Order: sequence, then structure tokens, then C-alpha cells
Amino acid sequence: MTNREAGAAGSSKLWGGRFSGEMSEIVERFNASIDFDRRLYREDIAGSIAHAHMLAAQGIIPAEDSEAIERGLTEIRAEIDAGTFEFRLDREDIHLNIEAALTERIGDAGRRLHTGRSRNDQVATDTRLFTRAACDEVVAALHDLRGALLDLAERQAATVIPGYTHLQRAQPILLAHHLQAYEAMFTRDTERFVQTRARVNVLPLGSGALAGVTYPLDRSMVARELGFDAISENSLDAVSDRDFVVDFHSASALAMVHLSRLAEEIILWSTAEFGFARLDDAFSTGSSIMPQKKNPDVAELSRGKSARVIGNLVQALTLLKGQPLAYNKDNQEDKESLFDSVDTVLITLRVVAAMLPTMTFDGARGAEAAVANFALATDIADYLAKKGVPFRDAHEAVGSLVARCEREGRTFTELSLSEYQAAHPAFEADVLSIDLEASLAARNVPGGTAPEAVASARAAQRARLAAERAS
Ligand code: ARG
Repeated sequence: MTNREAGAAGSSKLWGGRFSGEMSEIVERFNASIDFDRRLYREDIAGSIAHAHMLAAQGIIPAEDSEAIERGLTEIRAEIDAGTFEFRLDREDIHLNIEAALTERIGDAGRRLHTGRSRNDQVATDTRLFTRAACDEVVAALHDLRGALLDLAERQAATVIPGYTHLQRAQPILLAHHLQAYEAMFTRDTERFVQTRARVNVLPLGSGALAGVTYPLDRSMVARELGFDAISENSLDAVSDRDFVVDFHSASALAMVHLSRLAEEIILWSTAEFGFARLDDAFSTGSSIMPQKKNPDVAELSRGKSARVIGNLVQALTLLKGQPLAYNKDNQEDKESLFDSVDTVLITLRVVAAMLPTMTFDGARGAEAAVANFALATDIADYLAKKGVPFRDAHEAVGSLVARCEREGRTFTELSLSEYQAAHPAFEADVLSIDLEASLAARNVPGGTAPEAVASARAAQRARLAAERAS
């Protein structure tokens, strides 16, 4: 019989000492988080074992109790892993479910585990451990996606597409240049998750309910055992702070925005109207009514799922904005959205990384579209400017050529030298050699779309990715 059972009747809750009545069923359901926070069981058990080790090392509980706690928790973890553990709604959350089950197994030693600890610093610790692992997984998934983008850019090194502004054809670019722009976005995302991880990795345990605890805890020992870089410096902040959850949502939302933009390009490219890309059957679906359809569902869902992660960011900010210090039960609402952002960003990064290598491109169609619609007009204006014509005059002369061609239903390649010269006397025979290759090759500045510039940018991107992976 435990001490608790030896005590007076009253509420059956672990916190029930001062209560005389039972909680109503609807309040129990409303209050409980076990249906979702059971996902934190590994973190909760790791935190409890570290806490017990420290309590024993500090002489606060007997060493045998710490050993019994560790043994009991290890068994419970194995049962939860195996799916044989019984989670109970009347035990409210993961912390109380595990503690109550532990006490059932090991008796009073289990009732000593919560010495110098509160669920408030416990849940903050669990959530940080969970978020830290999530950051590591997201960073690895971002590395893989960036690798997939660079590999595709390499394979399609010679493929040309129109570059757009305002979704109007603007200037020819290399497809690789376009893909490498996304690699740059996902590199910044990686940085954001690495920075988030650093802010996550601070130990709240030892803050107690809000004001610190009366036992001689060794917080640094717990931090070391759990792999935290530092201990929190203010107990009130430590138990109420969920900024790191906002950081995670924020980094995730922006990564999802980037995935959504890439998905939108893939959707456009694979339409009959654009016709630059083809999706593999494994990454598209058919229509239940239109036999000819091949739909880019994976890309569309990648775009669509960005909405829920953006929603999660707004939810987390709204959750925090009216809370007085310190812990409030509101914070129980941080978990489902956090889990959702973790799951959504991970699966989306992974599915897009898996889809990219299966995509094929129609190079002839891309090259044709790249020079259609007078996309070499800037090159021809630059040609005049390089002959000493002020750029604004050159712009106007080439504009008049565009208008003439449009009127007559012709293209630049069909113009004769004398027709060029009618627009501006500075044109000479070499204007006729301005073509797609010349246009691309001319943009040989760092960051430009010339094949040479794109190849050296890609080499630098690869080196950066390899260095990040090795670190
Ligand atoms: N289930 C709670 C949560 O997720 C744990 C902390 C509860 N603390 C408390 N004093 N009621 O936030």
C-alpha cells in the first residue's frame, strides 16, 4: 500500500489531496491532453531518469530509489514502444500517466520522483527535447532536398527555359539557374532551423512551478545528461516560454512557402500551356472521370499544406499573446499544432525531394519558348548601348522594332540588317549573331545565368552542402 492509499479518501487524481469531489466527465475530457501528448513519452522518460539521477547524486533521494525509478521507467518505455501500455484519460496527461504507472510498479520510490519538480518545468523540458529532435530531422530533410535540386540542376545543365517577371516571358535562363535559386532558399531555411535548435536547447527543469525550488538541485548535471547547452536563467520565463515553438513554426512556415512556390512552378511547367516538364506516373494521379488526365497532386498538396503550417504559426502567436506570467494551462494547446507542423514540413520536404529526380524536361520546347516573344530584346538594346548609344535611346529603338515585328507578324530573326538600321543607324552586321547561346553566355557575372556562372555557383553550393552535412 502506498502512502497515498493510506491517506484519506478524496479525489483520485495525483494532485487530489485538497479536493473532495471527483471531476465531472466532461471537464475530464476537456482538461486531458493524453490523447496527443502521449507522443512525448520518450522525452518525458528521459527527463525523469535524468532528474532522478541528479536527485540521488545530490542526496535528495536514496540511490536505490533512483535505480528503481530508472528500472520502472525503462519498463514503461518498452511497453509504450510495444503498444501494450494502457493510457488513461483520468490520468490527464503523459506526465501523470507515466508517474502513476511507475508508482503502481515500484511503490513509494515512484512517489519521490516529483521532488523538486513541477509539471510546468517538466512539460517545458519535454517539449524542448521533442523540438530539438524535430529540428535535427528537418535539417537532414532539407539537406536531402538541396542535394536533389543540385543533382537535377547538374543533369539538366544545358536545359533552357524562359525566365519570367510578372509571369510574362522576360529573358532566357538556364533551368539549372532556376533550380539553384530554390537551393538558395532552402539553405536559408536550414540556417533558420539550426538557429531555432540553438534557442531550443536550454534546460527549463529546476524552475519548479514558477519560482525555483527549495532543494539543492544540480541543474547543470541534468543539462549535461540530456544534452542541453545551457540552463534557463529565469524560472518564470522558463516555465511560460514557448517562443521556441513559435520559432519552429516560423521556420517551418517559410520553408513551406518555398516548397509551395516550387510546387507551383512544377504545376505550371507540367501543363500543356507551358509543356516544359513531365511528371513521373508515380508522382501523379489520374481522374476518376476524365481518362486522359494526369494530375500533379503531389505538387498541389505541397502547395496546399503550406496553409496549415502558416495557420499553426498564427495559432501559436495568438496562444501566447494574452498570457500573464508564468505557466498557464493555455500552453497545453501548443502541442497538437507543433506536432502537425513537424509532420507536415517533414513529409513535404521528403516527398518533393523524392519527386525531383523523377521529373523529365522538354529541352526543345524550353529553348523555343525562351527566345519567343522577343525575349532577346534586352540583349539587342545592350548591343546598341555597348556601341555608345545611351541605354534609354537603345531601349526605344528596340521597342520600335518589337512594335514593327508585332504589326507584321514577324520575329527578330526575320529582320534584315537594313531593317535594323532603319530603327537605329548604330546597328551593324554582328547584330544578326545575337541568339539564345549568346544571350546566356553574356550574363557571365557572379549570380548570373551564363552556363559558366551557373556551374561555378553550383560547385559552391555543393561544397557548402557537403560542409554542412559533415558538421
Ligand atoms: N498537460 C500540461 C501541458 O501540456 C502539463 C502541465 C500542466 N501543469 C499544470 N500545472 N496543470 O501543458
